[in-house]
Amino acid sequence: MTPRNLRLGVNIDHVATIRNARGGGHPDPVRAARQAADAGADGITAHLREDRRHISDDDIQRLIASIDLPLNFEMAATPEMLEIALRHRPHAACIVPEKRLEVTTEGGLDAAGGHNVLKRYCGRLSDADIRVSLFIDPDPRQLEAAQALGAPVVELHTGAYCEAFIADMAGTRAQDELARLQRAAALAQDLGLECHAGHGLTYDSVKPVAAIASLVELNIGHFLIGEAIYVGLESAIMRMRAIMNQARADALAARRA
Ligand code: PXP
Repeated sequence: MTPRNLRLGVNIDHVATIRNARGGGHPDPVRAARQAADAGADGITAHLREDRRHISDDDIQRLIASIDLPLNFEMAATPEMLEIALRHRPHAACIVPEKRLEVTTEGGLDAAGGHNVLKRYCGRLSDADIRVSLFIDPDPRQLEAAQALGAPVVELHTGAYCEAFIADMAGTRAQDELARLQRAAALAQDLGLECHAGHGLTYDSVKPVAAIASLVELNIGHFLIGEAIYVGLESAIMRMRAIMNQARADALAARRA
């Protein structure tokens, strides 16, 4: 049996960050999405933030119109974003927490605490045939809340693991954070939730995460766009994909031995 392929979603937000540093149209995130498709990405992720600091409304429009890969539209649970999602009907909508002053999405969504509000958003998106995913910390309470909300997908926030990995990859904190991700992915499977993961992953930190059998998709952006400066976007994506596939194949072989 060949190992189930782990999907790679490429987050193109930071192509837009560079474009917006100067205004104008270069570099174009839609061109990056096309290159990601040529390099074998399974999907494109773009986060339309409320302050439009990177991806713009026009980018979303053009991604929907010209990219064949499924679009994972990251959005805050706000009426404005809901209206945009319902207008464009992307393949998936990943609901993320958003604070204006944060540099990036710093933690997971409080699916448990926000039940009443989120229930409405999950319902409206699902009714429009948009696959809803909730970006949550690898916390059993949040996973159970996601299931109660009727979200078919969760994306586990790998930020705490990646930070610990960078500080000391073999240290207790990195191992503990990895174990949290492993337990959360197993629980997601038990709860019937499709499990994705992402945030802060690199060629090195992705390996133990890709080895988690119940994960079906990783969403990676910042590191790939950074690597693209040195080697080009297609090479960076192809290398990431090869590392993910190898880590998954090695883990399967180890389980069988
Ligand atoms: N998944 C989600 C839900 C995110 O918000 C982000 C960051 O915007 C990512 C994945 C990708 O994280 P990174 O850019 O650090 O790879």
